[in-house]
Amino acid sequence: MSQAKSNSRVYVFALAVCVVCSLILAGASTMLQPRQSVNVRLDIVRNILAAVGHDPAEIAATAPQATFDLYKAEFTELLVDGNNNSADPNYMREELVKLSYPRTQLDDMSISDLLRVFNAKKDILARRSKQSLEAYDPGYKLLHVWQPHGAVEAYVIPIEGYGLWDIIKGYVALEADLNTIKGITFYEHKETPGLGARIVEDWFREQYKGKTILTEQGDLTSVTIVRGVATDQYKEPQLNHYVDGISGATLTCKGVNHFLQATLTAYEPFLATLRKNS
Ligand SMILES: Cc1cc2nc3c(=O)[nH]c(=O)nc-3n(C[C@H](O)[C@H](O)[C@H](O)COP(=O)(O)O)c2cc1C
Repeated sequence: MSQAKSNSRVYVFALAVCVVCSLILAGASTMLQPRQSVNVRLDIVRNILAAVGHDPAEIAATAPQATFDLYKAEFTELLVDGNNNSADPNYMREELVKLSYPRTQLDDMSISDLLRVFNAKKDILARRSKQSLEAYDPGYKLLHVWQPHGAVEAYVIPIEGYGLWDIIKGYVALEADLNTIKGITFYEHKETPGLGARIVEDWFREQYKGKTILTEQGDLTSVTIVRGVATDQYKEPQLNHYVDGISGATLTCKGVNHFLQATLTAYEPFLATLRKNS
């Protein structure tokens, strides 16, 4: 066999291996997509349930469908627009129909699921309506309302922002007074184990419980992680707005402080309206 013929066989073989491998990978990725999306939703629902006080270990041991059912039974969802007014989720349905989403599928979706799809598609929708993303974006925010026995017992707000290495996601639950923290959770972070990742530990999160986000005068102040021990630095009533830091994780804590404060500030006009009406 000539050298040229033998070389071309090697190239054809290598190409065939590449094509077969990429087909297998593409197939696996497509097949796993629905499971990945269920796991993303499951992570969210588990964190919301943990924020209002459900035992995280118990929730983790609960089957996915039972977890979704528990969330559905205990929570309603409120959509808030960029001007901090209640918004109609049907607007998102009407917009997504323009991208050929089946209406029956959209009708079955919860507000939070609709918002996830809408946020993923809003740049396309803005382009179709010949507007800049800033002009098109209604700036929707979500509020998960906990009503396990009918009356509102907590409001859960999604929080998200940069830690040291990447985005940290979480939820903060406020009691029905929209001032006292009922619980806080963090997930999907890339902070260092033993340092910034300690924000997920129970002792750290438990400190937030019972702290208040409003001053005695009723102004928003949030809850801040200090460097060191809060009781060494603050007395009541200021102590109500501070928790102990994590050594070796000052930068992560700075990030958490920043995005918790920023999120509460963004929600505050709507929370103030709810407080007035409750
Ligand atoms: C490999 C490595 C990982 C780190 N991970 C984090 C982290 O996740 N969060 C954080 O705030 N700082 C992190 N740091 C920064 C140091 O922990 C921190 O700047 C320094 O030790 C200051 O300590 P202090 O937070 O007690 O002031 C990391 C540093 C190194 C070298």
